[in-house]
Amino acid sequence: MRNFAATALAVVLAASSTLSPVSAFYLPGSAPHDYKKGDKVDVFVNSLSPMLNATLKSLISLDYYDERFHFCRPEGEPVKQPESLGSILFGDRILSSPFNIKMLENQTCVPLCKSSVPQLDAVFINARIRENYGLNFIIDGLPSSEQKRDTKTGETFLDAQGFSLGDATKDVHHPELNNHYDIYIQYHKRGTEHFRVVGVMVYPRSVDSIVKSETTPNCFVNAPYKLSDSQTNEFYYTYTVEFIESDIPWGLRWDSYLHVFDPKIHWFSLINSLVIVGFLTFMVAMILYRTMSKDIHRYNAVDLAEDVQEDYGWKLVHGEVFRAPDRPMLLSVMVGNGAQLICMVSVTLVFALFGFLSPSSRGSLATVLLVCWTLMSGIAGYVSARVFTTLGGETWKPNLILTATLFPIVTFTIIGMLNLFLVFAKASGAMPFGTILAILLLWFLLSLPLAVAGYFLGMKHGGFSHPVRVNSIPRQIPPIPWYLQPVPAAIIGGILPFGAAFVELYFVLSSLFGNRAYYAFGFLFLTFLVVTLTTATVSILFVYFILCAEEYRWQWRAFLVGGGSAFWMFVYGVWYWASRLSFGNFPSVVLYFGYLFLFSLLNFLLGGSIGYISTYFAIRRLYHSIRVD
Ligand SMILES: *[C@@H]1O[C@H](CO)[C@@H](O)[C@H](O)[C@H]1NC(C)=O
Ligand SMILES: *[C@@H]1O[C@H](CO)[C@@H](O)[C@H](O)[C@H]1NC(C)=O
Repeated sequence: MRNFAATALAVVLAASSTLSPVSAFYLPGSAPHDYKKGDKVDVFVNSLSPMLNATLKSLISLDYYDERFHFCRPEGEPVKQPESLGSILFGDRILSSPFNIKMLENQTCVPLCKSSVPQLDAVFINARIRENYGLNFIIDGLPSSEQKRDTKTGETFLDAQGFSLGDATKDVHHPELNNHYDIYIQYHKRGTEHFRVVGVMVYPRSVDSIVKSETTPNCFVNAPYKLSDSQTNEFYYTYTVEFIESDIPWGLRWDSYLHVFDPKIHWFSLINSLVIVGFLTFMVAMILYRTMSKDIHRYNAVDLAEDVQEDYGWKLVHGEVFRAPDRPMLLSVMVGNGAQLICMVSVTLVFALFGFLSPSSRGSLATVLLVCWTLMSGIAGYVSARVFTTLGGETWKPNLILTATLFPIVTFTIIGMLNLFLVFAKASGAMPFGTILAILLLWFLLSLPLAVAGYFLGMKHGGFSHPVRVNSIPRQIPPIPWYLQPVPAAIIGGILPFGAAFVELYFVLSSLFGNRAYYAFGFLFLTFLVVTLTTATVSILFVYFILCAEEYRWQWRAFLVGGGSAFWMFVYGVWYWASRLSFGNFPSVVLYFGYLFLFSLLNFLLGGSIGYISTYFAIRRLYHSIRVD
């Protein structure tokens, strides 16, 4: 036992030291594009999204060509760029733009178009400026950003959040509109003729560029432009582009985007939580192991002496532990779907660990998650069938149907309702009809048949046989203390797994809301392992306590305690909302809480499933080792 502990700790430490976030590893997502001098460098525009600056004021992203913005349009219609499913799900809408940029040709103060914004739309745009919306350009696959300096380390980095639509910090009531863009494109020279784009920086500014005596806009006027909400506004959108030589090779061009804020704190808190949780888990495991082996020893000794058979503790209920719980149908469906989620998360994390989820292929994380979830539905069917048969369930048809449909229907309903909300809010995050159709097809053609096949395989393998017989007459259950009741136990038990996860959760949330690439997958993988271990241990420990209290209805309790971290995740989400986010609009709040609820539900199924499965095998092991006449 102790040996195992030492080895595990050594492995964890060795793994974490090689998985440093500073040298993040990823595979480039696409082939490099070689430009010749004078080749057109396309500028694509993505949807506008709120920027995380101290707080986040909205969650809704808006189409660039939303007619209320009156941005310059290309000739003809803007052309949609092909995107992955995951990228669309994350709200990317990438379209062509009227910028006319040629490789190695510096241009100064080029007018894009003269824009005319009526009063009502000026009110709309000013409100978005106050909400800190940012523009997102994409040039050669790279997100545009301002170069920033980390005040703590002094390093410069690129922030993939985009650049601001305007500035409301000087005068909240009359914000400045950024109508001029200074674009700097860093290129890397290959040979004498070929050039590759390795960095894109955009610095927007506000300039009242219409000068009466001149016919073309003047970008060097020293006065900002403000939209008036009492008249129609006429002004120019302009840009300046400069090409700057860089020695960054193409393969490393994403490095400056993957900036770690305060890596020391990241490290410190992660190690801290790992050590605490690892220590706790091993203590708990040790106590459990010693108590159980003592129990088993004493029981067998008593038995041998043929003394008065004085049963005590968990072995009193040996004739009851395998009695089928209430609602075995629902339990098996939930455990099955939870097992599917466990596999989905594990496989995705392994993919991420090996660098397949490159920041350069947008939305790859969501795509991989979706595909894994679809392919893993066979596991849901298999596990559900075996759990259901073990629990003595016989009506397999409804169980099969519920396993294959209940959870997808609940998820689709929640997402569908949020989507309706987005449509009403005219947000670009709303899923296009084609995407919805694709997901439904994926589910219907792949997920559903796989679930059915898995279910039949599970039925063929059948249930597990019980190591001890179940008495025909149920025992009376004595009253048990309040903290062993299901709900308090779930809440108390959930603290440990959540405590292990929450540092990493904070980073994930920050990068999700800050539009930053999250890439510390090594940390995330370790955290997942620790959380799994903790969840399993806590559930087993709790079930051991209730069995000692002669309460034998453990199945649902094991699931609830395992899923208890979902409660804390929800509470944490509410706290994050109250302290870090300040949404000014109602749809953002609905969206946030809708997704928070969905994530908590996933967390509940996943944790509950870990709790139930690990406890089941622990209990089998426990009762296997006692001798019953
Ligand atoms: C964030 O807000 C602060 C103060 O409100 C401001 O000084 C800073 O420039 C802002 N940063 C961005 C990226 O908008
Ligand atoms: C473009 O501008 C940059 C920065 O001012 C300068 O270093 C570069 O030489 C210019 N390129 C050309 C082709 O003029």
